[in-house]
Amino acid sequence: MKRLGLFPDSTTIQNDTLHIAGRSLASLADEYGTPLYIYDRATMDASVAAYKGALQTYYPAQAEITYAGKAFLCKAIAEWTQQHQLWVDCTGEGEIGIAVAGGAPREKILVHGVNKSPADLNSAIQHAGTIVVDNLTELKRISVTLRSLRSLRVTLIVEETLRFAQSDISVWLRLLPGVAVATHHSHTQTGQHDSKFGMTREEILEAASFCKEHNLPLKGIHFHQGSNFRDPSPLISAIELGLDVSKEIGFAGEWHFSPGGGWGAAYHEDELPQPDIGDYVRRIAESVTKGCKTRGLKLPVLHLEPGRSLVARAGVAVYRVGAIKRRGERTWILTDGGMTDNPRHAMYGARYSCLTVAGPSREMSERVSIAGPYCESGDVVIEDLPMPKIEEGDLIAVPVSGAYHLSMSSNYNGARRPAVVLLEEGKAKLIVRRETVEDLLRRDLSIA
Ligand SMILES: Cc1ncc(COP(=O)(O)O)c(C=O)c1O
Repeated sequence: MKRLGLFPDSTTIQNDTLHIAGRSLASLADEYGTPLYIYDRATMDASVAAYKGALQTYYPAQAEITYAGKAFLCKAIAEWTQQHQLWVDCTGEGEIGIAVAGGAPREKILVHGVNKSPADLNSAIQHAGTIVVDNLTELKRISVTLRSLRSLRVTLIVEETLRFAQSDISVWLRLLPGVAVATHHSHTQTGQHDSKFGMTREEILEAASFCKEHNLPLKGIHFHQGSNFRDPSPLISAIELGLDVSKEIGFAGEWHFSPGGGWGAAYHEDELPQPDIGDYVRRIAESVTKGCKTRGLKLPVLHLEPGRSLVARAGVAVYRVGAIKRRGERTWILTDGGMTDNPRHAMYGARYSCLTVAGPSREMSERVSIAGPYCESGDVVIEDLPMPKIEEGDLIAVPVSGAYHLSMSSNYNGARRPAVVLLEEGKAKLIVRRETVEDLLRRDLSIA
């Protein structure tokens, strides 16, 4: 069955029921409740291995993989990144805090963000090894903060930060390449000429001069053109521009070059096969290697920054069907989760597919739309999908749910965010417990 190709590597059908890593999704739903998010560790590990293998083959100089925490970050996932010696891309103080809690050391934490607050910058200086600067204002703020740290010697923490700030912190500049990758929606493009992200070539050169004048350790160039693309061609012209700018800057010694992340995943059977990680890495590695050679540049440490392509397909969302409305023009399958745990369809019309947990191979006998329980007409996860006959109380499993679901989830309508379970060789480990009503009230103060 083609749709099965969207599910994690370890997915099987046993006793006419979907299993992942040897565990029945029906029994996991009974044990942990629904909606439930399941991550298959073997699939995540295999994706990392695909990146590492391709980098070893096509870029044997030095390369690093940075997990884009925005795809999904919790303590256990941060720990997993460290088991694979990945760097972690953190957007601001919150994600930095999670990465630190998961054991990421300073040199593996890289901080992104388009308008980093003073708190984000302080946290970055305290915990991270690399700050990717988005704009000149931010660069000036970093310079002021580092200078004031140099003149302060108050607490141990400050002294420790000071020691580090004077030696090991690196600054990279984010280039706006002016070229977007093809994604299914403009909201997932970031590299186009009018994007809010990054600096133009002229701004980058001004930033580089500022770094020189103010003794800031400029060590790299980064760009990111968008998320969920499968044609790497637009990367090539952006790499050319990035290398031109790097040449103009004139990095001395070890330097870093990061063409971002964004490699896609197939979400619907029509989009299979899954985009090939090896091919993506090869295209980047070849163009960086050739581009450096023609410009007489020393090969940089090459950084890739995948999020979705490491975790999306490892994740499966399991929902229980409550009510069904079979009407002439449309059949609504109403489940216990939706836009609060997966806003991607509501935000940019993302297409999904799914299987029933019991009897997944049955004949597809009707077309259905699958919606959640929230008070929004946009609370839809899947539209117009052929499915076998579904009954109230059935479980459905939505594949490719591992990226940009829970990290963009909300408490709309008082929704309590789902539990997350990591599966490994037949064992299930709860890595994020389900939210409770007490959690919803935790920050509230009374006026009575
Ligand atoms: C700077 C940066 N790096 C990496 C990523 C990861 O993208 P993806 O999860 O599509 O690989 C993003 C996502 O938007 C990003 O903004």
